[in-house]
Amino acid sequence: MSSPILQFPSPRAPAIRYRLARLDDLENLTVLESTCFPGNDMTKRQIRRHILNPLAHFWVAVDSGQRRVVGYSLVLHHQRRGPRLYSIAVAAPYRGHGIGKKLLQKSVMTTKASGAPHLMLEVSQKSRKAQSIYRDAGFLVWKKAPDYYGAGLHALKMMKHF
Ligand SMILES: CC(C)(COP(=O)(O)OP(=O)(O)OC[C@H]1O[C@@H](n2cnc3c(N)ncnc32)[C@H](O)[C@@H]1OP(=O)(O)O)[C@@H](O)C(=O)NCCC(=O)NCCS
Repeated sequence: MSSPILQFPSPRAPAIRYRLARLDDLENLTVLESTCFPGNDMTKRQIRRHILNPLAHFWVAVDSGQRRVVGYSLVLHHQRRGPRLYSIAVAAPYRGHGIGKKLLQKSVMTTKASGAPHLMLEVSQKSRKAQSIYRDAGFLVWKKAPDYYGAGLHALKMMKHF
């Protein structure tokens, strides 16, 4: 059976709202996550925990017409290491409309407002598109992380200072 997320229309200019995630987004987010990161996705239980975590900033992009979540960005605040962009994803039919950039902007804004000195992230060396939105938002590479995602799967550690 095909995933409901793959049945989304391919809108030219979707009307998107941005807000913090709620528990009633759980089903949508779980489908989105499994579609964007097959085999490496957060479980429904983990997503639920992040939504309820007061130290997490969990932004979602909602298609106003379809009334469903089509993207998210999640920042987790680690006590020792500080805030980290844990994940960001946009449903495939909605990519290329600036939604990923906007979600990143929201994450940067709320992290900065929390008083943190920086925001960190890791990105696959192969994910050119993700790297480009991070660079455009002012993130700089500070370290290479060989085999970070497994043998031969290298990552870049990036950071934005406030
Ligand atoms: C990365 C991701 C979140 C971007 O979301 P998006 O809504 O498509 O991104 P935007 O439309 O805001 O911006 C895309 C930018 O990348 C650029 N871009 C697109 N393809 C590119 C490529 N192959 N190489 C470099 N840049 C690229 C575009 O030109 C655009 O920049 P512009 O607005 O200046 O033209 C989305 O592709 C995604 O969910 N990918 C799968 C999950 C993932 O890899 N997440 C990140 C790692 S955790």
